[in-house]
Amino acid sequence: MSAITTTTSQRFANKTVLVTGGSSGIGLAAARAFANEGARVVITGRDEATLQAAREQLGGAALVLRNDASDLGQARALASLLSDQGLRLDAVFINAGMARFAGLADVDEALWDATFGANVKGAFFQIQALAPLLNKGASIVLNGSINARIGMPNSSVYAASKAALISLAKTLSAELLPRGVRVNVVSPGPVHTPLYGKLGMDETTLASVAAEIQSQVPLGRFGTSAEIASTVLHLAAPESAFIVGTEIIADGGMSQL
Ligand SMILES: NC(=O)c1ccc[n+]([C@@H]2O[C@H](COP(=O)([O-])OP(=O)(O)OC[C@H]3O[C@@H](n4cnc5c(N)ncnc54)[C@H](OP(=O)(O)O)[C@@H]3O)[C@@H](O)[C@H]2O)c1
Repeated sequence: MSAITTTTSQRFANKTVLVTGGSSGIGLAAARAFANEGARVVITGRDEATLQAAREQLGGAALVLRNDASDLGQARALASLLSDQGLRLDAVFINAGMARFAGLADVDEALWDATFGANVKGAFFQIQALAPLLNKGASIVLNGSINARIGMPNSSVYAASKAALISLAKTLSAELLPRGVRVNVVSPGPVHTPLYGKLGMDETTLASVAAEIQSQVPLGRFGTSAEIASTVLHLAAPESAFIVGTEIIADGGMSQL
């Protein structure tokens, strides 16, 4: 894949940025964009082959770590590893998450626990573990979803987990602002990423669900990972210093018009 290219804007020169779940989709696009703008990038993920492919795309300067964002012990180990390497963080994109859709009658405890374990508990304890490493003025961006804002059938558990992140952005901003740290959410609408293959649907169902979702987007298309990444970089950069404890929705109008 393409090597890192130099752009004129270097908002993250001399900055260190962590992207959880940075080996695929939106996270990888954000990691690439941060690196293009001069950041030292750290990414995490679980699957070694996917991490290796990301390592090749991001180049040798990126620190690529196998780490499960839903595991408290691994959150602490990640913070220790970064600390041992003398790294401090200027931006964190809490992006690792999972989506599995099921109707009310089909949701079981395992689906609930896996979703909240990765999307809420994981996000919270990663922030807790990483907080001591944040530089003054650092920005934390949480990857939410417009599912928190709309009543899409079969999305209840996922949507509730993403709604929790909007609350965390407010309370954790209130706690971290004395240290100059802001927390905000980017809430994407539908974006073409490998996530759709992991929803637990067969191909025919998936194709019809995707067509149905697309028909609900006023812009008439799915978004791209690069479009979400550009909002993430905006929220991570000092240019958004007055945006605190809130959410930017990037959804082609799906939840708005
Ligand atoms: N695509 C969309 O339409 C859309 C819309 C709204 C919000 N989002 C959100 O965007 C985020 C990224 O999704 P995506 O669409 O880019 O999906 P993706 O391409 O499947 O990427 C997910 C990334 O997260 C990693 N990951 C998942 N669980 C993890 C865990 N427990 N620990 C560490 N890494 C983990 C994956 O790597 P491994 O599996 O190897 O760990 C992968 O790198 C998610 O939070 C999702 O809810 C996506």
